[in-house]
Amino acid sequence: MPFESEIGSDAPIGIFDSGFGGLTVARAIVDQMPNEDVIYLGDTARAPYGPRPIAEVRSYAIECMDRLVTHGVKALVIACNSASSAALRDARELYDVPVTEVVLPAARRAVAASRNHSIGVICTEATATSRSYNDAVAVAPQVRLTTQPCPRFVEFVEAGITGGDELLGLAREYLEPIQRAGCDTLILGCTHYPLLQGVISYVLGDQVTLVSSSEECAKATYQVLQRRELLHHEPREAQRMFLTTGQSDAFEGIGSRLLGGFVEDVHTIKVGRRN
Ligand code: DGL
Repeated sequence: MPFESEIGSDAPIGIFDSGFGGLTVARAIVDQMPNEDVIYLGDTARAPYGPRPIAEVRSYAIECMDRLVTHGVKALVIACNSASSAALRDARELYDVPVTEVVLPAARRAVAASRNHSIGVICTEATATSRSYNDAVAVAPQVRLTTQPCPRFVEFVEAGITGGDELLGLAREYLEPIQRAGCDTLILGCTHYPLLQGVISYVLGDQVTLVSSSEECAKATYQVLQRRELLHHEPREAQRMFLTTGQSDAFEGIGSRLLGGFVEDVHTIKVGRRN
């Protein structure tokens, strides 16, 4: 395993998710740090993680991060709320490179944005069960958090579907408790959900501020790399590579469609157990 002292700013940033959702984090990282090389790993063969027991999500997440570490990354980004909730502590213990994640940065932004202290979080079952957002907002005791799992949203994104009557009906159903609780701020607590921002804000209207865990994670990653003087500030030709545990052509097709041509140089890798 490479050690931090051997890894300089030329090393890539390693980003990981269960599937396509973390591409929203990768996109935000590329937008905020365009001179950085990135390696993305989507564990699409075992997605979704959301309905799985936390221990299983943890073991898949560590296997994926081990793979990224073999590429000599200078930082690991857990671009998945479910995996952050399950494996952040282990990752920080196991790896010698900085590890950033999605939950705490999103929670902090939401606490800062909310005026009535009623915050909602929509997420997977795994994230809801872990109560990681409850822990993250506990620093602000005035906050009332309404947690709403939206298990079927991930299915739509993984199929490349971001609108339509069925999705709209589902969004109305999932978001009703958030409206009933009078939340003025909603955390998109799954990195797949920024791809559904259109339908979510259509249902909730402009009075609810949406906080993307993906955008906030990218900002947190910038801060960590800046502090460690591991960023490229000068223009350079950045490399991007994508690994999937599923079919590379399907990953490229759906990924590029969802993110407007951003996904190329895709390779399939094998991991332990499928499904
Ligand atoms: N994108 C992931 C998250 O942020 C996981 C979705 C899933 O695989 O269920 O939680």
